[in-house]
Amino acid sequence: MTEPRKLHIKSYGCQMNVYDAQRMVDTLAPEGFVETSRVDDADLVILNTCHIREKASEKVYSELGRLRVAKDAAALTGRQMNIVVAGCVAQAEGNEIIRRAPVVDVVVGPQSYHHLPQLLAQAKAGGRALETEFPILDKFGFLPPPKPAAIRARGISSFVTVQEGCDKFCTFCVVPYTRGSEVSRPVAKIIDDVKRLADNGVREITLIGQNVNGYHGDGPDGRPWALGTLLTRLAEIPGIVRLRYSTSHPRDVEDTLIEAHRDVPAVMPYVHLPVQSGSDRILGLMNRKHTAKDYLEVIERFRGARQDIAFTSDFIVGFPGESEQDFAATLALVTQIGYASAYSFKYSPRPGTPAADLRETVSATVMDERLVRLQQLIDNQQSAFNAAMIGSTVDVLFERAARNPGQIVGRTPWLQPAHVMASDAIIGQVLPVTMTSLERYSLLGNLTKPSLSTPSIAALPSVPSHTTGA
Ligand code: SAH
Ligand code: SF4
Ligand code: F3S
Repeated sequence: MTEPRKLHIKSYGCQMNVYDAQRMVDTLAPEGFVETSRVDDADLVILNTCHIREKASEKVYSELGRLRVAKDAAALTGRQMNIVVAGCVAQAEGNEIIRRAPVVDVVVGPQSYHHLPQLLAQAKAGGRALETEFPILDKFGFLPPPKPAAIRARGISSFVTVQEGCDKFCTFCVVPYTRGSEVSRPVAKIIDDVKRLADNGVREITLIGQNVNGYHGDGPDGRPWALGTLLTRLAEIPGIVRLRYSTSHPRDVEDTLIEAHRDVPAVMPYVHLPVQSGSDRILGLMNRKHTAKDYLEVIERFRGARQDIAFTSDFIVGFPGESEQDFAATLALVTQIGYASAYSFKYSPRPGTPAADLRETVSATVMDERLVRLQQLIDNQQSAFNAAMIGSTVDVLFERAARNPGQIVGRTPWLQPAHVMASDAIIGQVLPVTMTSLERYSLLGNLTKPSLSTPSIAALPSVPSHTTGA
């Protein structure tokens, strides 16, 4: 038998990239590749890149500098190391990468990962390969056969893509250019994926898409299904106890989604609903096509269906033209809503996006200062939200053994990590936990079922809150 080849993959950016990285690993497994956490002994290194902000993009070139050293060192021992750049920087700047970085063997865009084996064969033969085309409709007007989107089970919780691309064209954002226009996967395929994952031990599914609530995949009845209808159907699959979805756009919240939160207990009361700004003037310049009032109304519709729904958001500070008054409107909106957590970013002009041409830029100092003020407010809200759990009994889906021996860690419906002392027999189960304390972002508690619980824990290492990283 031939030695397995080693694959090191590093992913930046959003959940879609995390998912795609897993998909690339699964695509290359039949080619004899096994994953390694070490760059130095890898035969193949894949950088799965993100283009969303300048900092994210620039990381690629500094990482490639380091990889050149590793590749040269491997060559000295007679070993070929191939370097692949995948993801959104590959899509946006493929030709430039080939030109600027001779160390790179293959550049592959997010729509083409299923071609990786052929592209690598080209590289092995000494060539360099670039594939960043969006799939073209065939002569009958159909999309080519969909790329394999299913991944194998990796634990208790799994992502499943239901929708890719975005047609919203927010003026600051590269996603519509790097991921192409919105395409939804058919319902039957998603059901198959979820069934297979459930059969392999997965209990929680997070449906992902750049604009996930814009989902309108072909249903088995020949009509397009909305996200709420899909969630309701997936909840019937044996073994699936929790459903989540991300990321939603405030303009596409249909009544069927609200009803799913009201009627389907498996749909978790935790919604990521980015608003970006609280100022209508800035929202207009961003082409968000909603006002702060529209957003508040959407939040009220959710809360009307289920009172315990918690919200998270993304914010951009320092969008061109943002005045102190505009920023104050953002702070006011955050205060009014009360988030469970949120990401906030300094505006970063992206080449090719309309906002990059706006002249009235906000200075770096002002941006820094606004970011600190916003993050402080959000941090306070997050701490209050987490602290409110102490003393209450909350359902936790247990996922794995924690770092500290004897502890098992799971998540609450609101994605907070929760630790208990228990046997690993509880992994995969949802059990009520009475929360006793909070360490940074992690809750500690006791199982309410006495047979499974052991004495409570004094101290724990802190675990960072759930991140999408984007
Ligand atoms: N469909 C997802 C997009 C992911 S991008 C969504 O709508 O949430 C994640 C976040 O990155 C965005 O919500 C936005 O807050 C931020 N972002 C996008 N482009 C940016 C830019 N040019 N500068 C700063 N932040 C940006
Ligand atoms: Fe980007 Fe999200 Fe706007 Fe689409 S909806 S353009 S992905 S920020
Ligand atoms: Fe980044 Fe592409 Fe996701 S730009 S945020 S990896 S869609």
